Amino acid sequence: MSYNNCEVNRLKILVTGGCGYIGNHTCCELLERDYEVVIIDNLSNSKVEVIDKIKDITSKDVRFYKGDVCDKELLRKVFKENKIDAVIHFAGYKAVGESVSMPLKYYRNNLDSTLSLCEIMKEFNCKKLVFSSSATVYGLPKELPIKESFPLSTTNPYGTTKLVIEGILKDLYKSDNSWSIVILRYFNPIGAHSSGLIGEDPNGIPNNLMPYIVKVATKELECLSIFGNDYDTVDGTGVRDYIHVVDLALGHVAAIDKLKKSNGLFTYNLGTGKGYSVLELVNTFKEVNNVDVNYKIVDRRPGDIAKCYADTTKASNELHWHATKTIEDMCRDSYNFVIKNRK
Ligand code: NAD
Ligand code: UD1
Repeated sequence: MSYNNCEVNRLKILVTGGCGYIGNHTCCELLERDYEVVIIDNLSNSKVEVIDKIKDITSKDVRFYKGDVCDKELLRKVFKENKIDAVIHFAGYKAVGESVSMPLKYYRNNLDSTLSLCEIMKEFNCKKLVFSSSATVYGLPKELPIKESFPLSTTNPYGTTKLVIEGILKDLYKSDNSWSIVILRYFNPIGAHSSGLIGEDPNGIPNNLMPYIVKVATKELECLSIFGNDYDTVDGTGVRDYIHVVDLALGHVAAIDKLKKSNGLFTYNLGTGKGYSVLELVNTFKEVNNVDVNYKIVDRRPGDIAKCYADTTKASNELHWHATKTIEDMCRDSYNFVIKNRK
């Protein structure tokens, strides 16, 4: 593990969207470090069984409220029943394509949940917040690796919700600097918990690369379409900064630790700093899992960029966190989760 906190932590953390992919891994890492965890999730993109899996992995208890973060009465009840010290806000919709066809759904849920949450936090004088943002806020970066200080822009409504929320949080901090806010910009999370109990389980045909590769490997889907092999990259296919979800979860533990020590508004990239091409990922997946993955080269996907990877210096210097898991770990754990949970 790259991040270890030796202090005794009895802080109580509210995790919105804690049943989802990144949320459930983060809950496990918090519980392993003796934080108390309260989850609120409306299960719009997750299953309640995850709660038992978190308990199995950690042998710790977790309190779960099924409900919507936009529901201020429910939030009040949660804050009344639990003395919350800090909040990690994962809840939100995240499918880029869907956000283009259903923008109102995305603006309503992502903005409303954040505004309601911040209002109730203020009401209960809880002013420590970690927010899930995305590398998508860098739009089409002019240089690499991407630093936190780069200009921000978006290419789709999902990305715009992240950028608008970042702005809201900056204004909130400006208005009252007793808040402590950490904005985390994730690169491309993949992989799963080594137990194989939790991982990414999208419904239907996946949009993202790793879940698609896994479904081709298990023969649920016939063939992976690789979107373009004429980019200016090592082999012509797109390059991304894939990060193991457990490393990402540990980045949240580090962010909570930062909030315990300092007031301010801080923004960090969470990535490995290293880019892999689509073909490199496919070939590594085949090798470590000893399976075949059929693929064909097709046209570029509109809106895709050639290369995207993080400068991770700021997170390393200020959060004392860095990713340690390899691309082989990511490929092995992604496949292991699906094999163990095949219906
Ligand atoms: P996820 O869909 O697996 O998890 C989100 C969880 O939030 C789900 O369990 C869903 O049921 C819940 N939820 C959604 N709206 C809610 C609401 N209004 N009230 C209560 N619960 C609600 O997604 P994830 O991959 O775990 O992503 C978590 C966060 O990280 C999201 O905000 C996402 O935009 C952001 N993010 C994800 C990625 C990625 O590649 N997975 C990359 C960058 C940023
Ligand atoms: C997408 C989202 C981004 C989100 C990220 C992680 C867009 C524009 N961006 O980024 O907001 O934070 O997912 O969830 O959608 N690829 C294929 N075949 C496929 C799928 C993908 O070749 O079937 C290629 C893509 O062209 C790209 C790479 O694989 O080069 C990664 O794609 P993907 O997993 O969708 O992530 P991003 O596009 O980086």
